[in-house]
Amino acid sequence: MTTDSDVFDALADGYDDDPFHPLVADTLVSTLPNAPALLVDVATGTGAAAFAALRLKPASIVAVDFSPAMLALAREKAATLDPSGVISWHEGRAVPLPVADGAADAVVCASALHFLGATALAEWRRVLRPGGVAAFSISSARRFSRTGSLTDQMPRDFRIPGTEKEAAALATEAGFTTASATTVTAHLAGRERLVFGVRAVR
Ligand SMILES: C[S@@+](CC[C@H](N)C(=O)[O-])C[C@H]1O[C@@H](n2cnc3c(N)ncnc32)[C@H](O)[C@@H]1O
Repeated sequence: MTTDSDVFDALADGYDDDPFHPLVADTLVSTLPNAPALLVDVATGTGAAAFAALRLKPASIVAVDFSPAMLALAREKAATLDPSGVISWHEGRAVPLPVADGAADAVVCASALHFLGATALAEWRRVLRPGGVAAFSISSARRFSRTGSLTDQMPRDFRIPGTEKEAAALATEAGFTTASATTVTAHLAGRERLVFGVRAVR
C-alpha cells in the first residue's frame, strides 16, 4: 500500500542537491531567539532548519518528519553536524506534534506548510509558550502550482498567499499576536526562486 510519506521517501535521494531549501531554512532560523530551551523543527526533511538552529545554542531540538528516508539522511548528517545529540529525530506526522502544550520557545517550518495546511498553524500555537516565536516559509501564489507528484499532498482548502501581507495574515488569522513577512529570493541554475518568510509571535 502506498502511504503519503512514500511520495517524499522517493524524493529523499538528491533532495540535498537543491541549495534553495537550506537557504530558506537558514533565513527563517536567523529570525528566532537565541538559547531556546526547546525548538521544534516541523517537517524537518533532511534536517536543514534543525542543523541551522544549532547556532542558536538551544538546549534541545525536536525534529519531526513522517518520511523515514528523509530522516535517515538527517540522522546520517547528525553524526558530524550534531555530535552531542542536541537534536532528537521523531518519525511521525506534523499534527499532532510530540510536544506538550506551551512547552516550546520556538517553532520553525521550512518549505512544508503548503503540505500541512491551517491545522499546522493551530498546532504550532498550541505547543508554543506565550511570547514564543514561529518562523515558517510559504510559497507565493505567483509561483505556486498544484502539479507533479506532490499535488495530492497539498490541502486544497489552504490559501496560498500572493503578498507579504497575506502571508503574515496566515499567522494572525490562526491566533498569533503579531506577524511580519519578508520575501526570500534566489537565482539558482538560471531560475528565480521566491517564497515568503513569516515570523509570528504567540
Ligand atoms: C520540501 S520538504 C522540506 C524539508 C525541510 N523542512 C527543508 O527545509 O528542507 C517537505 C517535508 O515535509 C514532510 N512532510 C510532508 N507532510 C508531512 C506531514 N503531514 N507530517 C510530517 N512531515 C510531512 C516531507 O516528508 C518532507 O520531508
